[in-house]
Amino acid sequence: MAEKGGRQLRHTEGESNTSQARLAWIDKNAGAKSRPLLKRDADAFLHQSLSSPCVATIAKADGIWIEDTDGRRFMDFHGNSVHHIGYAHPRLTAAIKRQIDGLSFSPRRFTNEVSVELAETLGAIAPGDLSKVLFTTGGSDANEVALRIARAATGRFKTVSFWDAFHGAGFGAASVGGEATFRSHIAGPLLPGSEHVAPFNCYHCAYGHSGPQSCGLACAKMVEFALEREGDVAAVIAEPMRAVPTVPPPGYWRAVREACNRHGALLIMDEIPTGLGKTGRMFAFEHDDFVPDIVTLGKSLGGGILPIAAVIARRDLDVCGDFAIGHYTHEKNPVTARAALTTLEIIRDEGLVERSAELGQHALARLSEFAETAPVIGDVRGRGLMFGVEIVADRETRQPDPELAEKIYYHCLDAGLSFKISAGNVLTLSPPLVISRGDLDKALTIVETAIQECSA
Ligand SMILES: Cc1ncc(COP(=O)(O)O)c(C=O)c1O
Repeated sequence: MAEKGGRQLRHTEGESNTSQARLAWIDKNAGAKSRPLLKRDADAFLHQSLSSPCVATIAKADGIWIEDTDGRRFMDFHGNSVHHIGYAHPRLTAAIKRQIDGLSFSPRRFTNEVSVELAETLGAIAPGDLSKVLFTTGGSDANEVALRIARAATGRFKTVSFWDAFHGAGFGAASVGGEATFRSHIAGPLLPGSEHVAPFNCYHCAYGHSGPQSCGLACAKMVEFALEREGDVAAVIAEPMRAVPTVPPPGYWRAVREACNRHGALLIMDEIPTGLGKTGRMFAFEHDDFVPDIVTLGKSLGGGILPIAAVIARRDLDVCGDFAIGHYTHEKNPVTARAALTTLEIIRDEGLVERSAELGQHALARLSEFAETAPVIGDVRGRGLMFGVEIVADRETRQPDPELAEKIYYHCLDAGLSFKISAGNVLTLSPPLVISRGDLDKALTIVETAIQECSA
């Protein structure tokens, strides 16, 4: 929670950057070189929640590690979800340098080999008929392109999306997002027709159920309820698994897919943080045995170096040819395309999707076993290398304990592990897919020790 002009804003996406605990950590830990840079940063940048002012500086990023300007090193278990292949992967940096020396830009009206190859490769990787592609610079823009396609294809404009969701900072993306810090108070008015429903969240079910065994998929039924009552919804847009993280109950997406089919709405999967192997499958929706109509990718697509995002639509959704739907300056930038293409090659050649599944299983098993000895852990959940530990004051009532979560977080930071807190009390752990099992175990030991020491 953060206090803003007398209002309490709940941050689903990360911990407060103005809390007393944050200021105390900086006061105690910032080194001689970091301190003045943090101050210059706070003076130079517009302040906003979840980012500036910052907690630390960064001078180097390599593999799973980041290092501050005083030489203090952290394993990065957040990385804005860009670092699937680790930072500064040598194969990627070499490919980018070669591309810059070859062709460095492609103005509109001209195409280039590498951009076409990337579009073809994404079309080949994506299942079903998902094979028509458009690139943008960021994920927010990619989601807005997807929404435009849905409008054109259906002749409708309404959307159904989740409370608590994040789909980007643009006005369109924030309209389908569901978090106050991006959409309320200073942000409005947003897009009309952006309807919201409660998300799947089995541990804190908005409908009051204790778990998927007994709920009859109430949350999926509410999506259909909204589609049916509105009667003219263009698209349902959501993350297949929430990156905060929350995992859908079995059968959820099949039910929503069928509801979309019944009511003529497209299903758009925002795979911007979850795609490209993070969850142990190339696309997170592949866990749930359905194919959406449009998918968006971003973040890790640029290999943790360059910004590029993509929309992959069903071939027959190529219906906007007379209009401009993603007129972005860097649409076919050969350097960002090369970064993406090489990242996909690295993911394939290093077996990172399988690795994510295997290491994720290990991490979840180890943390679940540890949870039996730690009553402050209410839930351990995730898929692949996107997992979380929910810190609670009371296991029976599932009452969150944000103060303890924050204490644990700063304890971990002290011990050299960086991650973020989601929804106030969920330690959100999202390591690069290239992490060794040894380093993963070291990080899990840091988390377990912090939980033990902070809750003693
Ligand atoms: C699920 C999801 N969608 C969209 C975005 C927006 O991506 P970008 O910051 O590249 O605009 C994010 C970024 O965090 C995200 O997590």
